[in-house]
Amino acid sequence: MFLGSQDIQLGVNESLLDTSKVISSMVDGVMARVGAHEEIETLAKYSTVPIINALSDMYHPTQILADIMTLHELYTPAGQQPHDLDPSTTLKNLRMAWVGDGNNVLHSLMLQLPKVGMHLAIATPKGYEPHGAILEQASQNAAEFQTSLTLHHEPKQAIQGANVIVTDTWISMGQEEEKKKRLEAFAGYQLTTEMIQANGAQADWKFLHCLPRKQEEVTDDVFYSPRSHVFQEAENRKWTILACIDQLMVKKGF
Ligand code: NVA
Repeated sequence: MFLGSQDIQLGVNESLLDTSKVISSMVDGVMARVGAHEEIETLAKYSTVPIINALSDMYHPTQILADIMTLHELYTPAGQQPHDLDPSTTLKNLRMAWVGDGNNVLHSLMLQLPKVGMHLAIATPKGYEPHGAILEQASQNAAEFQTSLTLHHEPKQAIQGANVIVTDTWISMGQEEEKKKRLEAFAGYQLTTEMIQANGAQADWKFLHCLPRKQEEVTDDVFYSPRSHVFQEAENRKWTILACIDQLMVKKGF
């Protein structure tokens, strides 16, 4: 069952509690893309079937599965197969630079990357840092897995030594009215080949972006270059979502 925003106005015509009970009576699992993260928590609280977060304003966990799968494929040594290896071996000690907004995609990366042994250096403009509580949790994860997590306000500080450079839109869903203010705040954050190389990325740096992509955050010479793996990453959204659904079915005993 696909329920788009025209079919179901979550929390508008009906309480989330009631919607959660009705939908979960009809399906074996739900993938929900919401606005405020509290909405998915309410759905999960009252649902009788598993709820997968397909994006909230705080997290984008399924995106990070595709990112990790893509990097795992890219860093699998020649002659070996990704499915024979664990990402915590192929990705260990790689450095990711996030240059952009402290948003939902970044939050999920911050929490997850330590678990595969990756270091993360973040550059955001002042006032656009990741959420404090998530930073705290992510720092604990980094300490537990002995990875580094650093926060900066200059792109070059994050890019220095990076293997993988990542960004996302500066204007996430629901922030459209802040567009003008955000474009001003992110001046100097556009990724270009020249800027990445001048700021000391590793010689074989790679680029990822969760899509959809806007011109302002990254130029075509990066986005469409051989260093960019954004379309492989997009395809991997399919395989990772299928894996999530597969797990859900396993849990249900299918
Ligand atoms: N940060 C973006 C991700 C889009 C897939 C948003 O929330 O709109």
